[in-house]
Amino acid sequence: MNPHAIRKPIVDRFKGKVAIVTGGTNGIGYAIALELLREGAEVAVSCLPADEAGGKAAFAAAGFSPLVIVGDMSSEEFCHKLVSDTVAKYGRLDYLVNNAFSFIAKGLDATRADFLYSLEVGPLGFALMIQLAAVHMNKVGGGAVVNVSSISSWVAQPNRWTYNMSKGAVTQLTRCAALDLAPQKIRVNSVSPGWTWTREVEKAAGGDMEKYDPIWGQFHMLARMCFPVEIAAPTLFLLSDDASFITGTDLPVDGGYNGLGPEGLGQNTKIAGSK
Ligand SMILES: NC(=O)c1ccc[n+]([C@@H]2O[C@H](COP(=O)([O-])OP(=O)(O)OC[C@H]3O[C@@H](n4cnc5c(N)ncnc54)[C@H](O)[C@@H]3O)[C@@H](O)[C@H]2O)c1
Repeated sequence: MNPHAIRKPIVDRFKGKVAIVTGGTNGIGYAIALELLREGAEVAVSCLPADEAGGKAAFAAAGFSPLVIVGDMSSEEFCHKLVSDTVAKYGRLDYLVNNAFSFIAKGLDATRADFLYSLEVGPLGFALMIQLAAVHMNKVGGGAVVNVSSISSWVAQPNRWTYNMSKGAVTQLTRCAALDLAPQKIRVNSVSPGWTWTREVEKAAGGDMEKYDPIWGQFHMLARMCFPVEIAAPTLFLLSDDASFITGTDLPVDGGYNGLGPEGLGQNTKIAGSK
């Protein structure tokens, strides 16, 4: 399966609109930014310094040159710069995709600094970006926000207090921001991806997707891992007018992860009903 060949763009669905995608040079953020560009939007992406060159090259190879703004989402000053530079270049702001997150995964060993950085990049950064973006969305009569959450927002996983706590906070932020921004016609939702083939996951698999896809795929009813483009399409749906009556909620894009019971896919158990 070619992960970029499974979706035909709905041409020009976002023409004339402007979007910010944080962490848009890699993985899920890149897939979302690319699909927005393919559907006619102007897009600004943020990234850490190490990802600037690779991100620009990947967009150029696909025929696009979005505004790439380098900095850390844990910095309030950088969040202000990201929004003001985007509006200065493109003249308006319609959509925000809060995607960049800290991958610190610690539990009993987590330090206060680990918690603080996870929260600063995660829910605190997301919240500030929504506050700043809403000012500009208001000027164009409304807008939409998608927060990239995770299956980790909904379940316990080993040694992940930092990450799962931060993702859990994103769920409540989504609800509260949606409520308060509804009068301004700004919708706020989240997507919760399952295990997705991005670089951290590839690293954990030692680069061997063929070996690990069937193993980690067992976490999902669909018995395979997700590709980033499969998060992009539902995200674009939530941003689009097709989702005009959807706000304050989460769309699991998890291949059935959250509905799976302890019996898993049934292959290792003789309990009635399993094969
Ligand atoms: N990959 C998965 O299995 C998975 C599953 C569920 C949720 N998610 C979520 O999807 C989102 C994207 O993850 P990914 O796997 O695509 O990541 P990735 O590592 O492929 O890309 C991360 C992007 O975010 C940027 N970034 C990271 N930290 C940043 C910071 N502090 N400031 C500014 N930019 C920063 C990087 O430069 C890069 O552009 C995250 O919110 C993650 O929690 C991923």
